[in-house]
Amino acid sequence: MGEMKRVEKDIDRILISSAEIEQRTKEIAAQITKDYEGEEVVVVSILRGSVVFFAELVKQIDLDLRFDFMYVSSYGAGTESSGEVRIIKDITQSIKGKNVLIIEDIIDSGRTLSNLKELLGTRNPKSLKICALLDKPTRRVVALEGDYVGFSIPDEFVVGFGLDYDERYRNLPHVCVLKKSVFSKQDN
Ligand code: IMP
Ligand code: MG
Repeated sequence: MGEMKRVEKDIDRILISSAEIEQRTKEIAAQITKDYEGEEVVVVSILRGSVVFFAELVKQIDLDLRFDFMYVSSYGAGTESSGEVRIIKDITQSIKGKNVLIIEDIIDSGRTLSNLKELLGTRNPKSLKICALLDKPTRRVVALEGDYVGFSIPDEFVVGFGLDYDERYRNLPHVCVLKKSVFSKQDN
């Protein structure tokens, strides 16, 4: 892991490499381009975890896109969802009558996206779909399915390609599994 020297000591292994993500992202973008042919789409990046995937994905989508950003929080410093979603930053454009595609890093319990879908749905978009890089189907607490999903992964906490642990590791180019020892460290 030459390019990851700074945090190499914390990484157990690479789960999905940047090359695999790049390839899969192209496939998803092609599918989205096909599904929305002739339509305008507002792509909503959920901050902060989805920004790396978002940037990779939108470059490959051949449609009339508008960007927006929403910042919600359901996790603190730990790895368990609190079950509550706080809206810290809302989107800034009207989505009434628009096709809206939410871009998220991962679907875990499903609470975050289920809450978001309900909220954005009240604003009467023409359509509302979800695209997520990762999915942990075995962790689902509420019924929620991604319309476009990059990879289904087992129940392991992952970081990299936008995903964090305590706001770190987002810049890793691969989706990685952290060493168990990182979670038990109490150094701040
Ligand atoms: P959910 O509401 O439980 O579906 O949680 C979704 C959010 O939890 C994601 O947007 C992530 O920020 C965070 N999350 C869930 N699983 C992981 C993981 O394995 N690594 C990093 N963040 C995660
Ligand atoms: Mg997070």
